[in-house]
Amino acid sequence: MRCLTSFVAVLTFLVQDVAAVGSAFGYATGTTGGGSATAQTPSSNAELVSWLGDSTARVIVLDKIYDFTDSEGSATGTACAPWTCSPNPQLAIDQNSWCENYEAGAAKTTVTYKKAGITPIAVGSNKTLLGKGKAGGIAGKGLKITGKSNIIIQNIRIYQINPQFVWGGDAIQIDGGSKIWIDHNYIQYIGRQMVVTGYGAVTAATFSNNVFEGAGTYSATCNGRHYWAALFTGNGDQITFALNYVYMTSGRGPHVGGTSGYKQYIHAYNNYYVSVAGHAFDPQVGAYVLAEGNYFNTVDQPVTTATGYAFLPVDSTHTAQCSSYIGRACVANTALSSGTLNRNDLGALSAFTSATYVKSASVKAASEVGAFVQANAGLGIIN
Ligand SMILES: *[C@@H]1O[C@H](CO)[C@@H](O)[C@H](O)[C@H]1NC(C)=O
Repeated sequence: MRCLTSFVAVLTFLVQDVAAVGSAFGYATGTTGGGSATAQTPSSNAELVSWLGDSTARVIVLDKIYDFTDSEGSATGTACAPWTCSPNPQLAIDQNSWCENYEAGAAKTTVTYKKAGITPIAVGSNKTLLGKGKAGGIAGKGLKITGKSNIIIQNIRIYQINPQFVWGGDAIQIDGGSKIWIDHNYIQYIGRQMVVTGYGAVTAATFSNNVFEGAGTYSATCNGRHYWAALFTGNGDQITFALNYVYMTSGRGPHVGGTSGYKQYIHAYNNYYVSVAGHAFDPQVGAYVLAEGNYFNTVDQPVTTATGYAFLPVDSTHTAQCSSYIGRACVANTALSSGTLNRNDLGALSAFTSATYVKSASVKAASEVGAFVQANAGLGIIN
C-alpha cells in the first residue's frame, strides 16, 4: 500500500505544471478551464467522476484510458430497426418510447447494451480535462455539460460507447453553458452523437482540431460511416467549428437547427472533410451558418438544401459579398471530387454583423487545410 501511495505521489508531482495548451479562440475566447490549479491524475474511474462533477476548479490530466464500458453491467431491452439497409445497420434502443413515437413501422427486436453508455459523466464549471500524449481518454461513457461554464476538454480520446445502438450514448453533450473549448480530441465508435448541443443555449463554444473518426462497423447508413457527427440545436448557440478533421462520416457534419423559433450561429472554417458518403452541413430551420475556407475531399453533399441559412462561398463574387457584413472578405471553400457547393444565403451573413470573433477570425486558404489539419488535429500534437 505504501508503495502504491508513493507511486501516486510521484505521478502527481510529475504532472504538476501541466495546464491546457494554447489559448481558446473563436467564440470560446477567454476560456481558462481549471486555470492554474495544480494538475492531478485521478487514481480511479470514481475519482475522475468526482473531480469532473464537483465545484472546485481543477486541471485533470489523463495518462491512460479510463474504461467505463462494463462498470454498470449490461441491460437487455427492446430496440427497433429504423434502417433496413445492409450490412450492419445500427439499431435504436427504445428509449422513452422513441420507436413507438418516431419509428412506428420499424421491426422490433431485443438487444443487450452496456448501461454505462447511457449515463454520461457530468462536468462542472472551471475544469480542464487534458490528455497526456496519445494515451489519455475515456471509453464506454461520454461527458455531459449542463449549464456550466469555463471548461476545456483537450487531447483526449472518447470512444466505444455502444456503437451498435442509436440512443446508446453521446460522446460530448452540452445543454446550455458558456465558454467551452473542445480541442484536439479524437472521437470514434459512438452510438449517437459525437458532439451535440441543445436545447439550452451554448454561448459560447469552440470545437477545434478534433478528429471525428466515422469509420466503424455499425452505421445508420450501412456504409461503414458514422451518420451522427455533430448536432447543434441550442436556442442561441454561438459556436466556432474550426480546423476539425471529419473523416468517413455520412451525415451531420454538422446538422444545425431544426426547432422552429430557435436560432444557432455557427462559424465553421478550415475544416477538412474526407470521404463523407452523405452530407456535411445540414442547415435546418433556425440555422445561421457561415462556412469558409473548408476543404471537401470526396464529400457526396457538402451542404444540404434544408431551410436554414447557409453561406458557403466558392468564388470571388461570393467572398466579396462578406465585406459589407463582417468587414472582410470571406475565404472560399474548395470541393474536390465532391458534390456542389450551392448555398449563398445572405441571411446567414446578416446574422454575424456584430460577431467580433467571426469578423476577426484568421482563416487560412482552403488549399492549406488538408496538410495543416492532417498534421495538427487529434491526439499527441499539443501535449
Ligand atoms: C468558477 O470560477 C469563477 C472565477 O473564479 C467563479 O466566480 C465561479 O464561482 C466558479 N464556479 C464554480 C462553479 O466554482
